[in-house]
Amino acid sequence: MNTLHLASELRATIDRWRAAGDTVALVPTMGNLHDGHLALVAKARELATRVVVTIFVNPLQFGPNEDFGRYPRTLPDDQAKLQAAGVDLVWAPPVEEVYVNGYPPATTITVLPIADALEGAFRPGFFTGVATVVAILFASVRPDIAVFGEKDWQQLQIIRRMVDDLRFGIRIVGHPTARAADGLALSSRNQYLSTADRARAPQIHAALQAVAHGLQAGRRDFAALCAEQSAELAAAGFKPQYLEVRAPSLAQPEADDREFVVLVAALLGTTRLIDNLPVSLC
Ligand code: PAJ
Repeated sequence: MNTLHLASELRATIDRWRAAGDTVALVPTMGNLHDGHLALVAKARELATRVVVTIFVNPLQFGPNEDFGRYPRTLPDDQAKLQAAGVDLVWAPPVEEVYVNGYPPATTITVLPIADALEGAFRPGFFTGVATVVAILFASVRPDIAVFGEKDWQQLQIIRRMVDDLRFGIRIVGHPTARAADGLALSSRNQYLSTADRARAPQIHAALQAVAHGLQAGRRDFAALCAEQSAELAAAGFKPQYLEVRAPSLAQPEADDREFVVLVAALLGTTRLIDNLPVSLC
């Protein structure tokens, strides 16, 4: 497994693979890899003859008061995990290899209207940062397939929409959320939690399950159902930011829908946790 930093080296390697008839699957990440990321890599391994993982902590998707500076950067550990997972190539570019004409970039991509709801309402500019960097990663790697986690449901919908609107011709594959045994969705940010908060954190998954059970039991008073669980989270010491039922596309849900997704974001101490649960009544 090779780790490259320059876009020119990346292109040369991928051009060689293409000439030999290989197909390429990409897994974009910000590093500090856990089993959720590695599940995406395993999926990518099934789908193409070559797997590329990018590791880039993208400054454009962090707000001024967010954790860009302290986001965990653990390249040697990440490399060992990716080598063991059978990855062909890691691209870990410096910022000037991604934003080639200077930072911040003159050109950005905004996917409306879903970028302004849910996460977007609490993190202005976040999805523009994500869509822009993912477009640049796609243009740099030119994969056939890219694999993303359902953990970031809204991000996945935004990338699907961008790829469709702009005709990128890349197959986007979503992969289910990997969880700890107690239900907490794996996330690089879980390590910010104190021991006491880590013990409480699975309640966020329990709240999603409670809403899912309500839907399965036939409740369609979406707002009231979510408000009940939001109050439970607040009573348990969380600061809920949103807890909503949506259609999988993130459109508002209808009473006769059979597919939903329940999405939540909450602060626990200073750590912001997000999670979601797809619910299928079929
Ligand atoms: P990052 O948070 O590192 O996540 C990289 C990929 O791993 C994303 O597709 C994310 O949804 C997925 N992932 C994270 N935790 C997961 C879990 N518990 N189970 C399954 N998949 C999980 O998401 C980003 O980076 C960035 O926004 C990025 C797309 C790389 C653009 O900068």
